[in-house]
Amino acid sequence: MDKKKVGSVLVVGAGIAGIQSSLDLANSGYKVYLLEQTPSIGGTMAQLDKTFPTNDCAMCVMSPKLVECGRHLNIEIITNAELKKVVGEAGNFKVEVTKHPRYVDEDKCTGCAACTQHCPVTVALYPIEKDPIFLKPEDRTKVDAILEKYKDMKGNLLPILQSINTEFRYLPEKIIKYVSQEQNVSLSKIYQIATFYNTFHLEQRGKHIITVCIGTACHVQGAPGLIEAIENELNIKVGETTRDMNFTLETARCFGCCGLAPVITVDEDVHGKLKRADIPKIIKHYKTMEEKQDA
Ligand code: FES
Repeated sequence: MDKKKVGSVLVVGAGIAGIQSSLDLANSGYKVYLLEQTPSIGGTMAQLDKTFPTNDCAMCVMSPKLVECGRHLNIEIITNAELKKVVGEAGNFKVEVTKHPRYVDEDKCTGCAACTQHCPVTVALYPIEKDPIFLKPEDRTKVDAILEKYKDMKGNLLPILQSINTEFRYLPEKIIKYVSQEQNVSLSKIYQIATFYNTFHLEQRGKHIITVCIGTACHVQGAPGLIEAIENELNIKVGETTRDMNFTLETARCFGCCGLAPVITVDEDVHGKLKRADIPKIIKHYKTMEEKQDA
């Protein structure tokens, strides 16, 4: 067995795939430089609640890997940095990396955020609304009912926003401002939450959300054809909503059920192993559902 493995590897992107690759390489004896554009490692998975299809808690899966990665002697994490140039050939690459400033002493920072309490500079991300917000009476009734429901709950902002997002299928700007006033919470705090979680939407969406997986497995099994078929069927493009507000078409990367590729979801329903010809039937099903509800 070769015990004298030498060499170093650059892994670009510190999401779960980058972290796992770095750990595997580092455990094989390579010196690993793990490069990440954002200020921290973890990527999208660190923002998820559960993972498909086992419903395992995302952070329970991920946390041990984050810790191992941070402590591994063979891994050097370079965050807040971008790859600028790669030259050379296999076995002998040279890379140029630009590291962005953090404006804190990284050796001393523990991420406690105490410095934000003492920072003399205040940047208002969103203006605080001072004028009274007038909502449509029916909207106001719905929002007031939600606020009433959670009025005694500690840390109620998240469930309030979740309920509004479910009720209106997005977070309308006027309602966010209304909540800000009624709850006495700054708009920036609300937007911080609303933009952190993928489940919140700031744009109006259709009653049914069609999401086409464009992960590698689905792509090679024909996802682009499915997108085209849906676009033709609904006369919209990805990211758009039909005029009747019944359907929104979106894409996402890997639902974690690659064995069913190509896959789409319509709301909570998963449709796998699809062909273009299946699309009209699926859409008709949801259209009929709507017609029945309207009748
Ligand atoms: S790539 Fe589509 S489910 Fe994994």
